[in-house]
Amino acid sequence: MSQIRLNHICKSYQGTDLAVKDFNLDIGEKEFIVFVGPSGCGKSTVLRMIAGLEEITSGELWMNGKLMNYEDPGKRNVSMVFQNYALYPHMSIYDNLAFSLAIRKVPKKEIKKRVTETARMLGLEQLLDRRPAQLSGGQKQRVAIGSAILREPNAFLMDEPLSNLDAKMRTQMRVEIAGLYNRLNTTFIYVTHDQTEAMTLGTRIVVLKEGVIQQVDTPQNLYDHPASRFVAGFIGSPSMNFVDADVLSDASGIAIESAGDGVEASNASNVLELKLNDNQTAILKRFHYEGQEVTLGIRPGDFILKKNAGGQKENVSQAFPVKVLSSELLGSDRLVYFMWEGVKCVADISADDEVARGDVIEICMKLDKIHLFNKNTEASIFAHGEKLAQKGVSDYEEV
Ligand SMILES: Nc1ncnc2c1ncn2[C@@H]1O[C@H](COP(=O)(O)OP(=O)(O)O)[C@@H](O)[C@H]1O
Ligand SMILES: [Mg+2]
Repeated sequence: MSQIRLNHICKSYQGTDLAVKDFNLDIGEKEFIVFVGPSGCGKSTVLRMIAGLEEITSGELWMNGKLMNYEDPGKRNVSMVFQNYALYPHMSIYDNLAFSLAIRKVPKKEIKKRVTETARMLGLEQLLDRRPAQLSGGQKQRVAIGSAILREPNAFLMDEPLSNLDAKMRTQMRVEIAGLYNRLNTTFIYVTHDQTEAMTLGTRIVVLKEGVIQQVDTPQNLYDHPASRFVAGFIGSPSMNFVDADVLSDASGIAIESAGDGVEASNASNVLELKLNDNQTAILKRFHYEGQEVTLGIRPGDFILKKNAGGQKENVSQAFPVKVLSSELLGSDRLVYFMWEGVKCVADISADDEVARGDVIEICMKLDKIHLFNKNTEASIFAHGEKLAQKGVSDYEEV
């Protein structure tokens, strides 16, 4: 039985447009669910409806088989952790942590034991006598998480809990939250606009855009098989590159301009033809994409320098020249930027490959890794085809 079920949930704030549209999701026990999407896409609204802080306009919210739409927040047995900590400023850290136990009339001795235990788990033992104003942002957020733990909820709801922290503290707290999840074995529902947080924390990720679910999947599947251009562009950093391409008339490949901008074309027709694999060709044929215009998507790490492509087991495209706009060294990786078909693209290559601004480099693509998107619907053609094939659907609909 799923622990939390959202069934056709919609939200309209005072009769305005729907902030959340037909949201359906089953959250199993002990899942770490992340809602991710750009600012204003409805993440907090959904979380607040689960917590009971916001009325549900239509649809049903079930928890452990019980309809919760009209239950008070206090009866839902969930703990919310916000971006801005929500601590009691006039109380000591100890009293902040003890608060929920004290109002439940837990005996003093038991309170002391549990507060001490939790403080130790979160590295707060030395800070128990202080007031919130005397703590750093990271410490305050740890206290907020500590009080959430001490409420012993069925689910933790976290709304951008790390957004107010600096980059280093954010990384550290992210690791701590992951550790906490492993230790506590409870359901987590976590809201963020940061795809790195989503990818590193979630067991499943819900990608939202304008109040509508775009895809629900594991981090790996979202990365490898994004269902749409939006998801493909949102998940992964640096973002996927997108350029226009034409499917060949027999669907055996695609054609793109052969040279990067600022480089002389290497052949008269100026067209680069890329051979696709049998599976990719079969899907294009089934959906009747022969001769059609599509969008090619390729992740920065799926470009490869020609000189390194030799030993590659993968199916690698022929090389084409691009002129380097800039080259950024990031530890063991190097990001190389170039213009291609009027679009700024980025390739993630090895730091050992010394490439500088102004160089013309020969670059290839890992062809099995490319994505093609329908120009109108922006749906992923391969992801859609593979999903239908898995379901055993033989009669393909248009993507
Ligand atoms: N209290 C409110 N009254 C009216 N509109 C709201 C309210 N809260 C949020 N909204 C609107 O609902 C949409 C979703 O907001 P929100 O859930 O806060 O997005 P997110 O958390 O993804 O940034 C936005 O368009 C926002 O302006
Ligand atoms: Mg929000």
